[in-house]
Amino acid sequence: MTVLERQLTKDEIYDTLDPTDFESQLDINRYGRRTSAFDKIISATHDHFWDPVDKRYIDFDEPFDLENEYLVDPVLVAASRTAVWDALDEQNRIKLANMDVHWSMSSILHGEQGALSLSASLCHILRDPGAQEYAANQAREEARHVTAYAKYVQSRWGTPLPVGPALGNLLSEMVNSKLAWKKIVGMQLLVEGLAMGAFATFFKHGRDPVLVRLVQLAMTDEAFHHKFGKIWADRTIPKLDEDEKNTIEDWAWQVFDTLLYNLASPEQKKSIYAKVGLDWQWVQSAFMEALTDEELRKQMQDATNIFRVLIKTLLQAGIITQRTAPRYAAFVDMKELHDEGEEMVGDSIAAQGIEFLKTINGGSNPLLTRPAAAAE
Ligand SMILES: [Fe+2]
Ligand SMILES: [Fe+2]
Repeated sequence: MTVLERQLTKDEIYDTLDPTDFESQLDINRYGRRTSAFDKIISATHDHFWDPVDKRYIDFDEPFDLENEYLVDPVLVAASRTAVWDALDEQNRIKLANMDVHWSMSSILHGEQGALSLSASLCHILRDPGAQEYAANQAREEARHVTAYAKYVQSRWGTPLPVGPALGNLLSEMVNSKLAWKKIVGMQLLVEGLAMGAFATFFKHGRDPVLVRLVQLAMTDEAFHHKFGKIWADRTIPKLDEDEKNTIEDWAWQVFDTLLYNLASPEQKKSIYAKVGLDWQWVQSAFMEALTDEELRKQMQDATNIFRVLIKTLLQAGIITQRTAPRYAAFVDMKELHDEGEEMVGDSIAAQGIEFLKTINGGSNPLLTRPAAAAE
């Protein structure tokens, strides 16, 4: 069995069972061996409780004029920095920019479903009851994200767009894997890191108040999911042998590379360009022309740039070392990232969101105060 196919368990709290081996979950000696490593992040869940079907938290019925207003500052739309922009009149620019958000929100929705299914699958393979409780708690939070993003997409466009092949394949690989490391590095570190970066960007540049509220509420949860990945890394990475460490580093690089070149690729979202009368291959050439290495590096200097956030996540987790740093150094100043400390870009936005939630949740049990209509 190659390293890539092994569990690489270095701390027994991440010990695994086969997902079909439910009998072993009934082992009477298992229940008493419960880690407390995740108790703090499990019990913190009450501080960031929110409910996507309760208007005190977010109101998806607030209207938005999609024909005439940008959902996000157009600087966020990659096409605005290319010849594509010159080929469109203002009405079509708004149309394309808002379809781009439709694409992103659909991708996020699929990502949230991936996170929900992945967390649930962790419950089936992790042996430790404390680790299972964490995973079950994350699954419940991801489920509310699926509800929330589905409601947002429905309110603005009716239905989501199909998943792009690159993201779809990646999510499937992680959800269907039996390997805890692949699930945790792939989801809690890479995809959660990507989500934190993307949400911070929408928070900063969003012009639709519902969208801004939505990403901030999701971030109050995601910040904790990222912590679970970090705890795994702290307890695992230093104990890996050379071969194992290289395997994880290389797999993470491969995922990063796939995400970088596919998420924003015109080929993945052909359908939206067709709707403003543009051929995706022409769009791609316009992108290539504008996106020089220098331009890419410049964009990545923005602290909320999602790929910069992703690189920082991997760096903090010890998954970028001297061996692999040069690959990432093509995009960011690694020393600058190193010197920044542990604070992640979304942390302060999440903290502010939690303060807002406390004003609604108060001291009472929010589950008991949920309006009857919302429980239908
Ligand atoms: Fe989520
Ligand atoms: Fe998450």
